[in-house]
Amino acid sequence: MRLLPLSFAYPCYVGHYCCVGRLHRMSMGFIAYSLLYSIAKGDVFGKDQPIILVLLDIPPMLPVLDGVVMELQDCALPLLREVIPTDKVEVGFKDLDAAILVGSMPRKEGMERKDLLKANVAIFKAQGAALEKYAKKTVRVLVVGNPANTNCLIASKSAPSIPKENFSCLTRLDHNRARSQVAMRCGVPADAVKNVIIWGNHSSTQYPDVHHAMVNVHGKEVEAYSAVKDDSWLKGDFISTVQLRGAAVIKARKLSSAMSAAKAICDHMRDWWFGTLDGEFMSMGVYAGGNSYGIPEDLIYSFPVHIKNKSWNIHDGLPVNDFSRAKMDATAAELVEERDTALSFLSQ
Ligand code: LMR
Repeated sequence: MRLLPLSFAYPCYVGHYCCVGRLHRMSMGFIAYSLLYSIAKGDVFGKDQPIILVLLDIPPMLPVLDGVVMELQDCALPLLREVIPTDKVEVGFKDLDAAILVGSMPRKEGMERKDLLKANVAIFKAQGAALEKYAKKTVRVLVVGNPANTNCLIASKSAPSIPKENFSCLTRLDHNRARSQVAMRCGVPADAVKNVIIWGNHSSTQYPDVHHAMVNVHGKEVEAYSAVKDDSWLKGDFISTVQLRGAAVIKARKLSSAMSAAKAICDHMRDWWFGTLDGEFMSMGVYAGGNSYGIPEDLIYSFPVHIKNKSWNIHDGLPVNDFSRAKMDATAAELVEERDTALSFLSQ
């Protein structure tokens, strides 16, 4: 039996910080809604881990949360001991073991990127401060709301007594997208592809890299470049497809990714809790301090990581060619700019 405390809670934001019923706002709600069932039935934190779910939202959303609570009760899930809907941070963040911060201020029509960052700095500063004040010091925090990397950095800076290593942002969705693209191209199941990497920002500058990926073709592990046999696709359309996939889903669905985002959140948290498989790494946005890839420190940057005992380590020593170097640096440069703008608001 795993010895985790019973108070095992998640603030999940169902819709957030947006007054009008824009599709984007609704879709953030869809992510949390898609996520709750998997967590509550034990797919993420284990089949013997009792769970208390805390659902934190803004006051106008409380009636909606009541409906979600009813549905969770109606699922009759044995692990789910309590669901706490609240609009109060002192309740929402109290004694948390894991925090999944799904909501953020979405970009509204005519909004400058700088204004978007400013609004999100205010949100993630407040959430970081609430984590600092109310959560356990061992809490593991996953930031999903965009711009996820920089929001995560701000939350971490606002919670100085919680180790930086306890903060991460979601790039597992991009990782899964890359894995699946290669698998479809090779005609193999998605789990036959391993060790793709997402470097950098969860934005269109991210670098999906398959130079170190392996594909299991008819029982034999082959390097992705040999399995795909189309270098120009791997260096061109593959990269842009993954980089722009979120926008393509929004264009088609008129809503942003929810099912796949929730699945990626579950993958990310499950691996953080139970570890990655031997010989495999996963992509995760983590604190860049002390990395061996020459990425500027004091960023939340997506790296290949191994996880053991709930601690991640960047997979070091992968050779980086000129093609990759340029793309890793370009996404780092975007993050430096985002960080510097965000920090100028943080100090105001
Ligand atoms: C995604 O990657 O699907 C989302 O981050 C896109 C978005 O802007 O919501």
